[in-house]
Amino acid sequence: MTTYLVPFVPTPEIVARYMLKLAEVKPGELVYDLGSGDGQIVIMAAREFGARAIGVEIRRDLVEESLRKIKEYGLEDRVTIIHGDFFKVDISDADVVTLYLLTSVNERLRPKLEKELRPGTRVVSHDFEIPGWKPIKVVEINEEWRSHKIYLYRR
Ligand SMILES: C[S@@+](CC[C@H](N)C(=O)[O-])C[C@H]1O[C@@H](n2cnc3c(N)ncnc32)[C@H](O)[C@@H]1O
Repeated sequence: MTTYLVPFVPTPEIVARYMLKLAEVKPGELVYDLGSGDGQIVIMAAREFGARAIGVEIRRDLVEESLRKIKEYGLEDRVTIIHGDFFKVDISDADVVTLYLLTSVNERLRPKLEKELRPGTRVVSHDFEIPGWKPIKVVEINEEWRSHKIYLYRR
């Protein structure tokens, strides 16, 4: 079933940067952002952390916007956007997975994460827990008018 239950709300830049720091993204590692929106996280992973990154996004307009930015920054060799449903994309080669979805969607993603991710893969989720998984760190960040929680997991 195609799930399109999460609207586009971008993670604020400082929170996105903190997520990638918390996950200790290293040069050459592969980061997936499931529901990549305008591509901010995958572009940041490549530009600031030297990673390779794949975003999966269901909305065509956001895919197009991401591709424009990727081209503008000359990151075509390191950042890819898959236009599709993240439930249907194989993520088994991930080193790090980033999420900003909903607890209910994370719950539905959990069996996929458990089946596909290699042990040691880091999963970092903005604001929403993965039910049934125990985070190794939970950090709260105050940003402008609200606070954000970041949950770090290790598969
Ligand atoms: C809350 S936004 C997060 C965007 C980005 N990850 C960030 O943190 O800035 C969630 C994104 O997931 C996308 N989305 C929702 N369901 C999806 C699905 N099944 N497959 C791919 N993308 C999906 C939405 O279109 C939206 O852009």
